[in-house]
Amino acid sequence: KTMISSIDKDNIDLEELKKHAKLLSEGKTVIFPTETVYGLGANALDEDAVKKIYEAKGRPSDNPLIVHIHEKEQVHELAKDVNDNAKIVMDRFWPGPITIILNKKDIVPKTTSGGLDTVAIRMPSHKIAKEIIKQSGVPIAAPSANISGRPSPTKAQHVKDEMEGRVSGIVLGGDSNFGLESTVLDLTSETPMILRPGSITKEDLESVLGKVELDPSLAKKEDNQKAKAPGMKYTHYSPDADVFIVSGSKDDVFNKVNELILINNENGLKTGVMCLEKNKHKYNGEVISLGSTLEEVASNLFNVLREMDKLKVDIIYSEEFEIAGIGQAIMNRLLKSAGYKIIKA
Ligand code: TXA
Ligand code: MG
Repeated sequence: KTMISSIDKDNIDLEELKKHAKLLSEGKTVIFPTETVYGLGANALDEDAVKKIYEAKGRPSDNPLIVHIHEKEQVHELAKDVNDNAKIVMDRFWPGPITIILNKKDIVPKTTSGGLDTVAIRMPSHKIAKEIIKQSGVPIAAPSANISGRPSPTKAQHVKDEMEGRVSGIVLGGDSNFGLESTVLDLTSETPMILRPGSITKEDLESVLGKVELDPSLAKKEDNQKAKAPGMKYTHYSPDADVFIVSGSKDDVFNKVNELILINNENGLKTGVMCLEKNKHKYNGEVISLGSTLEEVASNLFNVLREMDKLKVDIIYSEEFEIAGIGQAIMNRLLKSAGYKIIKA
């Protein structure tokens, strides 16, 4: 049976939250909100607890987990060789939506690191996340709280719908702020490398670190198997429908999509369209706006994919977004949910 509590992040009921922190300290699993997406947590230093995470998600166990901490100093318990780049990132961006990869200390079990000698560490800024980690007294391993392969949960309802009965506790705390998972930055080599783009962009990082690379295997499907973050190679963010990105100049995209919708209709297939707010009226079919700005698109994307499932569409066409700034993270998630299928208009 899952213990479920709704907690207001701006007025935390500490007694209620402590019940969940206690579950964590006893080696059980608890889902809690973070500023990026909801996380499915367990004691990162307890192998049996960590195994429960993989079970609850149906996640392959070679896919390493991010260890969440509530104060910066905890990094030294988990990682060795905490270099200058790490100090700069921690100083500038923590607490917040960025995860750093460093060489791990022996205290971090291989079950947590997916067999690697490195560990991913993040200090979230969300008040509930920080407090539950603090109260549990241990670092918390937490992947996104979705069943493996599904879009990450950004709203309380997503977690209730999908995870009730699969974990010991659920803390519901409203919507995520960013809506995409944290940027994952490998700091084990000379030049920092982004393994997963996120809200903290390459440009943001370069402004404090100098040269930053992007894992070259992120760009193409064929290279995806070589991705340095093991999690990037699996099917991801998949709604029930088949997703396609439609690329080209605006008018060509509108025409192409409407043409395809007619054909789909004839074949008895229901079509959904995901687009910028201002383009909504250009399309026929079931249109859901992703928002007006790239920040809104990032924060709405996973929810819109889930909304499309509710509409029971068979095919989804999405507009494409510029691969710059946060657009890099948006297109990364969108390409994965589309299985890299692009239609040229
Ligand atoms: O925003 C987030 O990061 C959320 C919230 C809950 O904090 N968590 C999250 O975790 O997205 P997860 O497990 O869904 O994604 C972790 C990513 C995966 O792509 C994984 O392969 C990569 O980080 N990763 C973890 N440890 C790694 C390591 N030692 N080396 C390389 N990649 C690693
Ligand atoms: Mg995930």
